[in-house]
Amino acid sequence: MPISPQFIQELQDKLDIETVVGAQVALKRRGKTLVGLCPFHNEKTPSFTVYPDTRSFYCFGCGAGGDIITFVRRMENLDYVEAVKTLAQSAGLPMPEDGYDDSLFRQRQRLLAANREAARFFNAQLNDPRNRAALDYFLRRGLTPNTIRKFGLGYAPDDWRQLTDHLKEKGFTAQELVLANLTRRSDKNGRTSYYDSFRNRVMFPIIDLQGNVIAFGGRVMDDSKPKYINTSDTPVYKKSNGVFALNFAKNSNENRLILVEGYMDVIALHQAGFTNAIACLGTAFTSEQANLLSRYADEILICYDNDEAGRKATRRALEVLGKTGMKLLVVQMEGGKDADEIIRTYGPERFADLLNGAANRTEYRLLREREKYNLLTDDGKLRFLTAASSILAECGEIEQELYAARLSNEFGVSVESLKAQIRSARGRLRRQAEKEKQQQQMTLLSKSAEDHNNPERRQHLRQARAEETLIASFFRNPDFYHKLKDSVSPDDFVTDFNRRVMRTLCGILDAGLTPELSLFAQEFDPEEMATVTRICRSAETLHNSLQECEDCIAVLKTSQQQTAPQTVAQMSDEEYRRQFAALKEQK
Ligand code: GTP
Ligand code: MN
Repeated sequence: MPISPQFIQELQDKLDIETVVGAQVALKRRGKTLVGLCPFHNEKTPSFTVYPDTRSFYCFGCGAGGDIITFVRRMENLDYVEAVKTLAQSAGLPMPEDGYDDSLFRQRQRLLAANREAARFFNAQLNDPRNRAALDYFLRRGLTPNTIRKFGLGYAPDDWRQLTDHLKEKGFTAQELVLANLTRRSDKNGRTSYYDSFRNRVMFPIIDLQGNVIAFGGRVMDDSKPKYINTSDTPVYKKSNGVFALNFAKNSNENRLILVEGYMDVIALHQAGFTNAIACLGTAFTSEQANLLSRYADEILICYDNDEAGRKATRRALEVLGKTGMKLLVVQMEGGKDADEIIRTYGPERFADLLNGAANRTEYRLLREREKYNLLTDDGKLRFLTAASSILAECGEIEQELYAARLSNEFGVSVESLKAQIRSARGRLRRQAEKEKQQQQMTLLSKSAEDHNNPERRQHLRQARAEETLIASFFRNPDFYHKLKDSVSPDDFVTDFNRRVMRTLCGILDAGLTPELSLFAQEFDPEEMATVTRICRSAETLHNSLQECEDCIAVLKTSQQQTAPQTVAQMSDEEYRRQFAALKEQK
C-alpha cells in the first residue's frame, strides 16, 4: 500500500520546493523560475532550475529532475519512504499511521543503532586496564583525553568475537551486523560462523552531518599491514561521499576548510584549534565529495603530505574541486611530512604561517612546472617560460599581469614578449575549446533521440513524441483526458516507459486528483523521475488543444496497424501479452 496522495499533497502545501531546494542550493530568482548551481554535477554557470509553479526542478546540464521527494532522495541517498519521512519531519506533519513499506528505513535505523552501540563499546574499551596499550598509543601521539572523547575514539580488542557477542546481546542479529560490516561471516567446511571485522586496532568513528555513526576506520598500533581497515560500503555508508569530521568543521563558521589526508591529521588540527579541518575518505577524491564541501565553504586549503603520493593527490583534488568554482589554495607542507607532524614538532603557530603562505592554484602550478626544468640553461628557461605562458593563458587578466611581471623580472625577458606568448597560447586554447564545443553539440544532436530510461524512444521517435505530447497535455489539462479517455489508453502506447508513465497518470486522473510530479515519485526512481519531469515540462511547448491530442492519438493508432503483422520476436512483452489475451478471447 502506497502513501496516500492526499498526504503527499498536504506535505507539499506545507513545504514549498523553493525552501526545500533553497536550503541546499543558493538560488537566484529569474522571472517565474529560480536558478542555481546544480548540486548533482559540477558546474560554474547555473543550469539548475526550480519551477515553483509545477513544484519541480530540472537541470539542463545533467538532466536531473523531479519533485521535492526526488530531490531529497538524490541529495541524501534515501529511498522513497525515507525521503517522505524526512520531509514530513521538517514540515512537522505526523506520518500516516501505516499502510506503507518502510522496511528499508527501519533497516537503516537498525544499522545506525548497531554502529552507535559499537562506537560506545570501542570507546569503553579504553577504560579497561587490559587495553592500556591502546590508550597509551593515543596519548603518545599527543591526543588529550578531551580530544579522545570529542572524536569518540576507541579500541577494538584483540579477540574474534567480543564485539559480535556484545551486539548480539543487545538484540542485533548476525545478519544486521554483517550488513553493517561490523561482523564477517565465514562458511568453512559447511559451518557458518561469525567474527569481528576489527581486531586489535585503534578505532576512528566516522560521523555524518546528522550525528550518526556511519562507518569506522581502524589503525594498527605498530608497523604491520594493512595500516588501516575501513568500513566498506553499506546501506548507511558510501565511501565515495564520506568526509571525516565535516560534522564538526561545518560549525567552525570559517567559510573555508582545511583538507588533509589522514584521520590523525584532522584530529591533531582540531586539537590545535583548527576546527575547520577535514579529510576525504577513500582513495580518490570524488566529485560527490567536492560538491558536499562546496555546500559548506567557498575556499579550500589543500594540505596534503609532502611526498609524491601527496602531490599526486593534490593534482587530483585541484582538478575535481576546480569544477566547483571554489577558491583553492595549496599549502606547502614544509618541516614535516604531514600536518600532524608539523604541529607536533613546531606548534600551531608554524602551521598557521604555512596556511598564510598558501599558494593559489596558478602559483602552485607554476611552482610544480618550474621543478621540471634546469633553469641554469637557456634551453631550460625557454621551455619553462613557454610552459608558464600556457598556464597563464588559462588565467584572468590580473593574474596574467601579476605573474608576467614577476617572470619578466626574474628571467630578464620583456613583459611584452611574455604577453605575446600568452596571447598566442590563449588563441590555441580558444580554438581547441571551439572544436570541443562543436564536437559536443554534434554528439548532443545525435543523442537527443536517446533516453536511457526509455531505450525504445530512439527506434520509435515519432510515436514516442506523440506519447509524450499526450502525457504532457493530459498532465496540464485533465479535462482533455476525460473527454478523450475512451479513444486512447496506455495500451495504445508503443514504448514501455511512456506506457508506464501514462498508466500512472491515468490512475491519478481517474482518482480525480490534480496531477503533480510528486505523485509519480512513488512509482519512478530518481533516475526515471528525470525523464518524467522532462516529459511533463514539455507542456510549455504545447498547443494545448484537443486537436493536438487527437493528432497524437492518430499517430499511435496508425502505427498499431502498421506494426500489427510483426513477428512475435519483435513484440514488446506488453504487446505479446495483449496479442495472447486477444487470441484466447477468440477461442
Ligand atoms: P598515521 O599518521 O600514520 O597514523 O596515519 P594518517 O591517519 O596520517 O594516515 P596516512 O597519511 O598514512 O594516510 C591517509 C589516509 O589514507 C588515512 O587516514 C586512511 O584514511 C587512508 N589509508 C592509509 N593507509 C591505508 C591502508 O592501509 N588501507 C586503507 N584502506 N586506507 C588507508
Ligand atoms: Mn600521519
